[in-house]
Amino acid sequence: VRVAVLISGAGSNMAALIDACQAADALYEVVLVVSNDPEAGGLAVARSKGVATVAIDHKPFGKDRAAHEADIQAELEAASVEVIALAGYMRLLTPFLVNRWEGRMLNIHPSLLPKYPGLDTHARALEAGDAEAGCTVHLVTEGVDEGPILDQQAVPIVAGDTPRTLAQRVLTAEHGLYPRALASFCARIRNL
Ligand code: GRF
Repeated sequence: VRVAVLISGAGSNMAALIDACQAADALYEVVLVVSNDPEAGGLAVARSKGVATVAIDHKPFGKDRAAHEADIQAELEAASVEVIALAGYMRLLTPFLVNRWEGRMLNIHPSLLPKYPGLDTHARALEAGDAEAGCTVHLVTEGVDEGPILDQQAVPIVAGDTPRTLAQRVLTAEHGLYPRALASFCARIRNL
């Protein structure tokens, strides 16, 4: 399955997805990495792993999100992409992309959804006194962080945790969860 990963930043999840698919017998191949930020650190990481990259800066498009997405769509089509994996992609998507890719676009979110959609998930989990936190891979629908859940991984919250220490523990769990969830999703759509 030909996968594009959309990023905005460091791309550590993207790197985990690429590393996993470069193993033998992988069910998917990351054929393209797209960033809306030309300065995203993940772009160089992807290139160093031999994956094609494209930066499509959203700023020149101003408020016209759909026009920005149309340029992304053109790149996805040119690369014959079949599945999109959002990995720290920090732009809200419009129906232009969401509808076109419904059922074929995954996201990873740093909480145990449906708890804590949106931002600052770790601070909110600590504030609530939760015993555990975690991450979720879900299908993308129009409602932010609301699509059907594919898989989750919990991690403990420990005494003395700060949003920063918890974020690190969850991120490490994300790197295990996302390749696993994407591979089983690809197996499912291929009826393997
Ligand atoms: C991850 O925690 C992801 O769940 C969130 O943003 C972070 C991205 O990190 N949406 P990276 O760019 O994959 O390193």
